[in-house]
Amino acid sequence: MVKPRNVEDYRSLAAKRLPRMVFDYLEGGAESERGLRRNLAAFENISFEPWRLLDVSQRDTSIEMFGRRQQMPLVIAPTGLNGALWPDGDVLLARAAASAGIPFALSTASNATIEDVADRAGGDLWFQLYIVQRTLAETLTRRALSAGYKTLMLTVDVAVNGKRERDMRNGFAIPFRYSPGAVLDGALHPDWLLRQLRHGLPQLANFVGAGENDVNAQAALMNRQMDASFAWDDLKALRDSWPHTLIVKGLLRAEDAERCVQLGVDGVVISNHGARQLEDVAAPIEKLAEFAARIDRPVLIDSGFRRGADVVKALALGARAVLLGRATLYGLAALGEEGATDVLRILRQEIDTTLALIGCAHAADLNPAFIQNGGMAGSQTRDIRSRSTVEAERPRTEPDRLMARP
Ligand code: FNR
Repeated sequence: MVKPRNVEDYRSLAAKRLPRMVFDYLEGGAESERGLRRNLAAFENISFEPWRLLDVSQRDTSIEMFGRRQQMPLVIAPTGLNGALWPDGDVLLARAAASAGIPFALSTASNATIEDVADRAGGDLWFQLYIVQRTLAETLTRRALSAGYKTLMLTVDVAVNGKRERDMRNGFAIPFRYSPGAVLDGALHPDWLLRQLRHGLPQLANFVGAGENDVNAQAALMNRQMDASFAWDDLKALRDSWPHTLIVKGLLRAEDAERCVQLGVDGVVISNHGARQLEDVAAPIEKLAEFAARIDRPVLIDSGFRRGADVVKALALGARAVLLGRATLYGLAALGEEGATDVLRILRQEIDTTLALIGCAHAADLNPAFIQNGGMAGSQTRDIRSRSTVEAERPRTEPDRLMARP
């Protein structure tokens, strides 16, 4: 095996090692997958404007968020069915995150239970909530609280399931269906198959034994059939009932983020769900400058991040941290915990190198002055609102930071 040097190398390895239908589940986007391409291409429109002759001999990739220091401005994003990529995938990803000093977000659709991950992985654990049924959501939230999770992340961009045609074509489902095609696919990937058989096939663990609704709830979650009536009043009730950090994930409008903040939400994630829901929406990085100008709580972002330089661009444009979806999943699918850990190591190295090359010693000091035109070139923001409007809405210190040495 040639040693993987970047996230794309891990993607290629994952594509070889996973049965086609499992890789398609991991990789696929909504409909014609234009959104997937847009998420990746959006970074090409943003260039650095490096500062020179500054002392960058000692660099620091750490940041502080929600009162906690973390070693890198990254979070492992909540992803369902990690156990289909590698047995015990949730625990392995959580351990990789803990050893890299970053948070791990456990999906409602995990294959390990909330409690199991807390017992066996440790670290800074977040729980991601889907509202499949309200009573179940309350139970899951209570379980996360008693298991010691300090951050609850509500995902709001899955009112209904996006149209993922790869999964439809492949008949991808949990429990796995033994169609002739699926059996052949498995047989062609014997290492993956043996690991799965040895460990026992993955289930939606948080729902097993959840009462008489167990099977219905599992089916609903698998088809991402949510309670689509969940709205602002319900978010307020959730805010009132959750005593720790609350984050809302899946926003693409700054107005929505402002409303979240008014309700007391602690942070927001600009996300298009890795282009798995609606394909023709903005790439989150295109919306970042606008959010950062209007929101005075941590703004997190995901969708399409594959390079340390992508992460540095996001921080410079105002994000506090970046969630990684597929990047760490490629590592997990290729080599288990070792692969996820290596992806995080590679990204840390890339972040560190980029910081040195743009003249910024500390990730926490990144600001728009490191980006050509303060990040306005190629950004959607320029098309929608004039530059002067955006400038006027920046926090008062921003022009100083733009003019000042970084
Ligand atoms: C996801 N995502 C997701 N989000 C969420 O809130 N709950 C979930 O259960 C899942 N499940 C899931 C499975 C898989 C296989 C993927 C790839 C993604 C979305 C995820 O949290 C994140 O928003 C995107 O993955 C970010 O885009 P990138 O990094 O994959 O491009």
